[in-house]
Amino acid sequence: MGSQEWDKKYSTEEYIYTKTPNRFVVEYCQDLKGKTAIDLAGGEGRNSIWLAKSGWQVENIDFSQVALDKFLKWAEEENVSNNAIATCQDGTEFKPALGTVDLGVIAYLHIPMGELTKSIRNLASVINQEGHLFGVWHSGENAAEFNGPKDKPNFADIETALSGTGMEILELTNREGQIQTREGLKPSVTLVLLARRVSA
Ligand SMILES: C[S@@+](CC[C@H](N)C(=O)[O-])C[C@H]1O[C@@H](n2cnc3c(N)ncnc32)[C@H](O)[C@@H]1O
Repeated sequence: MGSQEWDKKYSTEEYIYTKTPNRFVVEYCQDLKGKTAIDLAGGEGRNSIWLAKSGWQVENIDFSQVALDKFLKWAEEENVSNNAIATCQDGTEFKPALGTVDLGVIAYLHIPMGELTKSIRNLASVINQEGHLFGVWHSGENAAEFNGPKDKPNFADIETALSGTGMEILELTNREGQIQTREGLKPSVTLVLLARRVSA
């Protein structure tokens, strides 16, 4: 989907990905230390707002201006505008306003693998020494009849994307998750990544 289609999808009062942070983002990021974070493809900001409320200076980088406007409005309502930056750019070639950061989050960015690889490498390139990269996706290991996004990474895709970036993979695992379908919540396999910069 292009940015115009995402803008259209987000053009509703409702927060379509809810106002609840993703449970894996919370589980893996709640104890990480640092001051600055990028939420790449952060959309309406459920994870960005949680990070901002947890004390991080966070830059939500997404190519949907409609999503980012909703994020900024919500940040105001939560009194965390001082910790919230919105940058409308493509994930494959963004230049963060924050420069380099202590944490990069990428949650449910399902795009063709070549573009995802570029986005992951781009995000990795702006993570400080000892900083972390956390990612979560619907896994490529889901059954064929899985009713989710078409482009889903597997372990090899993530390992390839991070090779030569100076990031050490601390955890790359498949977890049990859920996906919202027209018939309600259904079980799914969720791929989770935690990596840390160990060299330039
Ligand atoms: C499934 S939503 C996930 C939003 C958010 N990360 C969350 O977990 O609630 C995917 C997001 O990726 C953004 N997106 C898709 N392709 C992108 C690209 N090439 N560059 C930047 N953002 C992109 C969309 O605008 C959308 O907000």
